[in-house]
Amino acid sequence: VDSKTIAVAGGAGFLGSHVCARLADAGHLVVCLDDFSTGRLDNVSRLFSSGRLLLHEHDVLEPFPRGLPRFDEIYNFACPASPLQYRRDPVRTALISVRGALHCLERASADGARLFHASGSEVYGAPPRHPDDQDCFSSVDPIGPRACHDEGMRLAETLVSDYAHQNSLDCAIGRIFETYGPRMRPDHEGLASRLIVQALRGQDLTISGAGDQTCSLCFVDDLTDGVLRLMASSADASTPIDLGDPHETTLAALAALVLELTGSTSRIVYRLRVTDAVRRRPDITLARRTLGWFPKVPLREGLRRTVEDFARALGVNAAGPRRRPGTVIPFTAARGAPLAKASP
Ligand SMILES: NC(=O)c1ccc[n+]([C@@H]2O[C@H](COP(=O)([O-])OP(=O)(O)OC[C@H]3O[C@@H](n4cnc5c(N)ncnc54)[C@H](O)[C@@H]3O)[C@@H](O)[C@H]2O)c1
Repeated sequence: VDSKTIAVAGGAGFLGSHVCARLADAGHLVVCLDDFSTGRLDNVSRLFSSGRLLLHEHDVLEPFPRGLPRFDEIYNFACPASPLQYRRDPVRTALISVRGALHCLERASADGARLFHASGSEVYGAPPRHPDDQDCFSSVDPIGPRACHDEGMRLAETLVSDYAHQNSLDCAIGRIFETYGPRMRPDHEGLASRLIVQALRGQDLTISGAGDQTCSLCFVDDLTDGVLRLMASSADASTPIDLGDPHETTLAALAALVLELTGSTSRIVYRLRVTDAVRRRPDITLARRTLGWFPKVPLREGLRRTVEDFARALGVNAAGPRRRPGTVIPFTAARGAPLAKASP
């Protein structure tokens, strides 16, 4: 293996931890920089024994810490992704999106590293066409409740693309669509996580609307594969690439599958007010053409693996909503990040 030294900002989070694992397993030295605000030590702890993961507790609002090696590649996943988390301190969220990206750019420029920036479908605004069209943008409410994250993401893309152009920096931008899988936070507020948690806890599965709206969910192994292929390609910041699973399923079918896989006897309850973001389906023509990438893991298989992981994290019986006697569901423990000090 051509071993590289690679920084992953936000590497203890959901997506970042899967990328850290793939890179370390491929023989690279990975430096995970994370403030553990939404990430968890558990997400990467299995990699310590490989000797190929170094962990630095670090806030990307500050420039990269001194004493780190020169990086060949830098991945930027450092930003809370769940509305519950990013709305807690929206000013900080907006700043992390932009200043965190700037610090990754500056370090990549100093090291001559290639940078991957994790952007998302949010940059398209409300989807005006279906499936989402890579050239079609609509406005987002700049003072709405999600603006700190969505507008932060848009400005970060502008910054990455302009900085790369002005400084001839080698950057790739991945626009990630809704992704699910093991190590996702139980309070992520995504469709899959919400329904699985409700089913495992024996609560009603709540769906907004009549259940006939569709969603497109990408399994995290597929997404990680797309990110790594994008990094290995020659795509630059002038060509952001959409990464997501275009396969659609209705919310009612998704809920039924979750009930089946958890063995839960919960009810599916339809709420009239439509709050779930729906019909956001990626067009992955560009990813197929330039990366030869397309998602392979079927929804049933991805959900099965996610249910197993959530059952373990929540301390519930994977066969259904029955709790082991005396088990308190550690929802706060699952949410809380063990604030371990950096252990280089
Ligand atoms: N999960 C998805 O479906 C999805 C979809 C589109 C885009 N994205 C984007 O991908 C990125 C990662 O998403 P995720 O789902 O892994 O979220 P996550 O919350 O699980 O991971 C974010 C990680 O960044 C860390 N972090 C946050 N603020 C930091 C700071 N100031 N300094 C250092 N570390 C910090 C957190 O502790 C966590 O480990 C985010 O930018 C998100 O917007 C995710």
